Amino acid sequence: VTLGVDVGTSGVKVVALTRRGEVIAEATRSYPLHTPRPGWTQQDPSDWVRGATEALRDVASNLDGRVPLALGLSGQMHGLVPLDGGGDVIRPAMLWNDARTGAQVEAIEARVSRAELVARTGNRAVAGFQLPKILWLRDEEPQAFARLRCALLPKDYLGFVLTGQKRTEPSDASGVGALHLASKSWDRDVLSALDLDASLFPDVIASHEVVGTLSDAVAQACGLPRGLLVVAGGGDNAAAGVGLGLTSSRRDVGSVSLGTSGVIFAPLSDATPDPEGRVHLFAHADGGYHLLGVTLSAAGALQWLKDKIAPEASLETLLEEARGVGSSQGVTFLPYLAGERSPWMDPALRGSWSGLSLAHERGHLTRAVLEGVAFSLADAFDVMRPLSHVETLLATGGGARSDLWLGLVSGALDKAVRRPSHEPGAAHGAAILAMPAAGLYASLEEAMDALRPRGDAVAALPAAAEFALYRTRRDLERLHVPT
Ligand code: XUL
Repeated sequence: VTLGVDVGTSGVKVVALTRRGEVIAEATRSYPLHTPRPGWTQQDPSDWVRGATEALRDVASNLDGRVPLALGLSGQMHGLVPLDGGGDVIRPAMLWNDARTGAQVEAIEARVSRAELVARTGNRAVAGFQLPKILWLRDEEPQAFARLRCALLPKDYLGFVLTGQKRTEPSDASGVGALHLASKSWDRDVLSALDLDASLFPDVIASHEVVGTLSDAVAQACGLPRGLLVVAGGGDNAAAGVGLGLTSSRRDVGSVSLGTSGVIFAPLSDATPDPEGRVHLFAHADGGYHLLGVTLSAAGALQWLKDKIAPEASLETLLEEARGVGSSQGVTFLPYLAGERSPWMDPALRGSWSGLSLAHERGHLTRAVLEGVAFSLADAFDVMRPLSHVETLLATGGGARSDLWLGLVSGALDKAVRRPSHEPGAAHGAAILAMPAAGLYASLEEAMDALRPRGDAVAALPAAAEFALYRTRRDLERLHVPT
C-alpha cells in the first residue's frame, strides 16, 4: 500500500490505498482555525504535525500486516509557513483564505504589471496567495521578516518535519504567485522586482518524486517503517484531480466541487492563461497544467442561509422546498458573502438579495441561493471556456449530493455534470501520487488510468426551456455586479 496525507483547513486526513485502489484504512484529526482579527485566518503548524502524527499512527495500526511503501503529501494551497535559519516556525501560518494583504497585492502589481505577471506566473496578484503574505510580513512584522530564511507551503512544511528536507513541487508552488510557469522554476525577475531573494523558496521537484525518507524519530512515533519514502505530492486541488483521474492529456473531463467554496478544475496540456488572470492557471501534478475557477461561497452560502434564516430546518428540507417551488420567480442572490475570486478577483465584493416580494416563500430564497452559486460558477467557467476543452464535469463536495443543484450547475454551465462512483479526495490522490516511487506502477499516468473512478451517474439535465430562463437571469445578475 501507499499512504496519502491531506493537510486540510479543518483537519488532516490520512488514507492507505492498495495498488488496486481499495482504501484499507483511513483516519482524520481536526484542529482549530484562528481569526485573531477580521479577515485574518491562521493556523499553528504544530497542530498539523500533531494531527498528522496521530492520524498516521491510527492508520499504521490498521494495515492488517500490509507494509506501506511510500507516503504522498497534499494540502491546502497558498499558506505561508515562515521558517528561520534553524528551521523553526517564526509566527503562525497565514492561510489561503486570509484577506489581510490588499495593500501588498497593489504593491506587487505596481512593480510588475498585471499582464507580465499573468504571462510569467499564470496569475495576477491574488490576496490569498503566498507571495503577498511574505510582503505583508516585511511591511507589518519587520522583526519576524528579518529572521525569515525559508517560506514553505503547508504540506511542504509537513514534508520537512517528516524528512528534514525542504522541497516543493509545481502544483502547489504555482500557487505562491512567483513560479515561472513555463519553466516551473522560481521567477527571479519577478522576485528581484520585489526585492526578494529566490533562496527563500525551496527547490522544486516533480510531484511524483521523492522529497526524502521518514526520519527515525517520526517513524517510531507513527509506527511506520524506518526510511519510508516521502513523495512531494500536490496541492489539494491537483491531488483531488489525480484521484479523479483528470489528466492533462485527456482534457475533455474536468471537475466541479460544491464544498464550502466552489471550484472548477479544467486540465490543460499547455500553460495558456486568461490574459486578465480572471481564473487561476496552475501546474498540474501530472506534469501538465490546469485552470482553476474559484467561487468563494458555494455550499458555504447554503449553510449560511440555513444557519441565519432557517436554523431549525435541515439542509434536506431546504433543498426539498427549493425543488418544490419550481423556479425562484424573480428572486436573485449574489453569493459574494466572503468577497469573490473568479472572475471578479475582488475581496471587497459583497452578496445581495434582490427581486423580493410578499409572495415569495423560503423555498424561493433557497432556490435563488442554489441558482446564484450556479451562475457564479458559470461566470468563472465563461472565462475558461475559450481556453479549456472540458465537456464533462465530475461533481464532488457536499453540495453534489443534490440532484437539483447539479442540474442547475449543468444548466448554467451548459455542460454535462456527472457524479462519480466514489469521491476520492486529495489524500487519496496523494496516495496515488506515491505509487510510482513505491514501484507499484511504472508511471503516474498508468496509476491514474488504472485507478480512475468508474461507473459515473449522469445528473439530470434541465429542460431546454429552462436554459433560456438561465440566460435571462444571468444577464439580470450582471446588472448587479459592480465591476
Ligand atoms: C485554491 C484554494 C483552495 C485551497 C483550499 O486556489 O485557495 O482550494 O487550496 O484548501
